[in-house]
Amino acid sequence: MPNELDSSRILAIVEEKGKSKEHLLSILLAIQNASGKNYVQEEWAKIVAAELNLSLSMVYDVLTFYSMFSTKPRGRHVIEICKSTPCYISKSDVIAKIFEKHLGIKVGETTQDQQFTLQYTACVGACDIGPVAKIGEEIYGNLTEDKINSIIIKYQGE
Ligand code: FES
Repeated sequence: MPNELDSSRILAIVEEKGKSKEHLLSILLAIQNASGKNYVQEEWAKIVAAELNLSLSMVYDVLTFYSMFSTKPRGRHVIEICKSTPCYISKSDVIAKIFEKHLGIKVGETTQDQQFTLQYTACVGACDIGPVAKIGEEIYGNLTEDKINSIIIKYQGE
């Protein structure tokens, strides 16, 4: 797992994505992915703000507005369980409990080996296959205990 990013790596990401305000989201996403801990720390946000000529609070507004971002370290794989109404009706609360049981953590926590963070998310646009969980860019629907078991095994092997 990559270690904390240094300022030269942050500057390189900004340079690569393009030093302009409209690239803010993709810069922050690239930093978060490169962090190895799925987060953007204040130090890095400061560098981005200075490079793009934005205030730190504006960068923080973005980091806190979008649920895909975190300012605190998370696991290598973030499991997001949809809790919007259509998924809730198809028992996403039961699904959350099954994930909790298999991972040995509660929603909002990270496993001790830093592999998984479990959290809730709002609708990810796959309501027809609810209950749904999203891991990175992948969406998993019609979840059952068996499916959850194989999803966890798959990501443990990565
Ligand atoms: S409500 Fe869960 S994906 Fe839409």
